[in-house]
Amino acid sequence: MTAEYYPIITQDGSQTLYSTAFAQTFHSQQGAVSESRHVFVVGSGVAARLGRGQATRVLEVGFGSGLNFLLTADLALTHDAPLYYRGLERTLLPVSIAAALGYREALKHPELYDALMSYWAAPAGAFTYRSVTLVLLLGEATEQALGEAEADAIYQDAFSPTVNPELWSEAFLGKLTAALAPGGCLSTYSVSGAVRRRLAALGLTVAKRPGPPGGKREMLVACKSLGGAAPSING
Ligand SMILES: C[S@@+](CC[C@H](N)C(=O)[O-])C[C@H]1O[C@@H](n2cnc3c(N)ncnc32)[C@H](O)[C@@H]1O
Repeated sequence: MTAEYYPIITQDGSQTLYSTAFAQTFHSQQGAVSESRHVFVVGSGVAARLGRGQATRVLEVGFGSGLNFLLTADLALTHDAPLYYRGLERTLLPVSIAAALGYREALKHPELYDALMSYWAAPAGAFTYRSVTLVLLLGEATEQALGEAEADAIYQDAFSPTVNPELWSEAFLGKLTAALAPGGCLSTYSVSGAVRRRLAALGLTVAKRPGPPGGKREMLVACKSLGGAAPSING
């Protein structure tokens, strides 16, 4: 383990990482897997789409340990739904750190985890596994070219606005909003007033929703119109 990251056991028994550079954990200390499922997979409307077997394009801000990807891809495999997932990440974690987090146990399809870890050891091109494709967009996220309306959902999982401000700026949220397809939703754990105002000013319908069981009280969902009402938390 390098001094840059420390593993932490969260309250639902799953692990997360503490980043010394950002002085923050990658997930809620109240439960990494619970937060990831509730805020991102379900809260964004992705679980409902995959449950219908619908092809789904996800854009994630902050790929990190890959937990949000693994839980989403696991569900896609369960429903045999095509998933095209893009992860923005400055630097991919060393595979030894990712592999030590034990996320294999959280999956219905552990062979997905094994395939991802093999890819992670020497990443080249896209990762594909059955109906799932993962494209990692490595480097500074704000400098990545994002197309228009190319994501059915966005997982905004940067560190908090206080320590990671460039990923919550009006300019970057504007890029994310443009990348969101009509009817699609961005979900995040942050309910910061400034973030809510920026997303609303960009034309999204912003709503607070109950946070994960045992975790933060609230989370945020911001949806683009044309059938884009915020989904119910139960998908
Ligand atoms: C809260 S962690 C993401 C957790 C991740 N979603 C998971 O499931 O493990 C935030 C991530 O954003 C990345 N990050 C922070 N600032 C960035 C930037 N400006 N460009 C690209 N990635 C950045 C960090 O390296 C870190 O992996």
